[in-house]
Amino acid sequence: MSEQIRIVMNGAAGKMGRALSAGLSALENMQIVGAVDIKCSDVDYGFLCGVNALGFGIKNDLAAVIDEVKPDVVVDFTSPGVVMENIRTAVSHKTPIVVGTTGFSEADFRQIEVWCARYETPVFIASNFALGAVLMMRFAREAAKYMPHVEVIERHHDQKLDAPSGTAVTTLEMIADVRKPLAQGNTQEFERLPGSRGGELDGMRVHSVRLPGYVATQEVVFGATGQVLCIRHDALSREAYIPGVAMAAEHIVGLKEGVLLRDLDTLL
Ligand SMILES: NC(=O)c1ccc[n+]([C@@H]2O[C@H](COP(=O)([O-])OP(=O)(O)OC[C@H]3O[C@@H](n4cnc5c(N)ncnc54)[C@H](O)[C@@H]3O)[C@@H](O)[C@H]2O)c1
Repeated sequence: MSEQIRIVMNGAAGKMGRALSAGLSALENMQIVGAVDIKCSDVDYGFLCGVNALGFGIKNDLAAVIDEVKPDVVVDFTSPGVVMENIRTAVSHKTPIVVGTTGFSEADFRQIEVWCARYETPVFIASNFALGAVLMMRFAREAAKYMPHVEVIERHHDQKLDAPSGTAVTTLEMIADVRKPLAQGNTQEFERLPGSRGGELDGMRVHSVRLPGYVATQEVVFGATGQVLCIRHDALSREAYIPGVAMAAEHIVGLKEGVLLRDLDTLL
């Protein structure tokens, strides 16, 4: 590995790809050396991200770019329907990959573990790279030990594909690990409009709001007799994710084992 961590950004033309490339290339120990997206462009990628010229445009073939520039790590913020193929491409080229794309199933995680072992290459996946959101999840897990009646409300921009968010699912899974099994609400409850009470994981409800204007907000609301506790995190701009992605990239390039690491919580 060279002194600087050399990164290929996959999903480079997207909202996250551009914001992260601008932020990571401003760090002393990081360098963006390639950009991949199905929306390719000959325009200098630096200009597309609002930073100085980087000397290359966006290409559309991840395998070819990895072969050409031999990065230390790929960062993937693409789309749930394509991310598995991207991970396989990176690890089969023995290139570690940090993944922020959401929408994985447990079966996907098991498949990724198989690939990690087969190609002896690590993968880091986090449903939320904002440090404040990681703390929100930790605090929610702690609160659930004492206040087991809980619902999650998450709010994102209206172009988000998956619902509920990966962060909401991770939060509920963390809470489920410590919360006593509990039937919440009225057993006679019925929905006048299907879906009014939201999705459900382990007896806990989750509500997904999709509106222009939001980046990402989540409230974990705990109710008990005579009181309500609300733990809330707001990502106000995509810069919120830069330190977490940098931390994951720094960690994964030093790993020798072919392992799947999940969630930033493991690094704090
Ligand atoms: N983990 C986190 O902290 C975090 C934070 C924000 C967003 N996300 C997730 O990141 C993903 C991207 O979010 P976004 O807001 O930037 O979306 P976006 O739609 O703005 O960007 C996605 C980009 O991926 C590109 N793309 C699609 N298929 C591709 C392929 N096969 N190869 C290469 N590029 C491809 C698209 O053309 C697009 O430019 C989503 O899954 C979102 O939920 C995660």
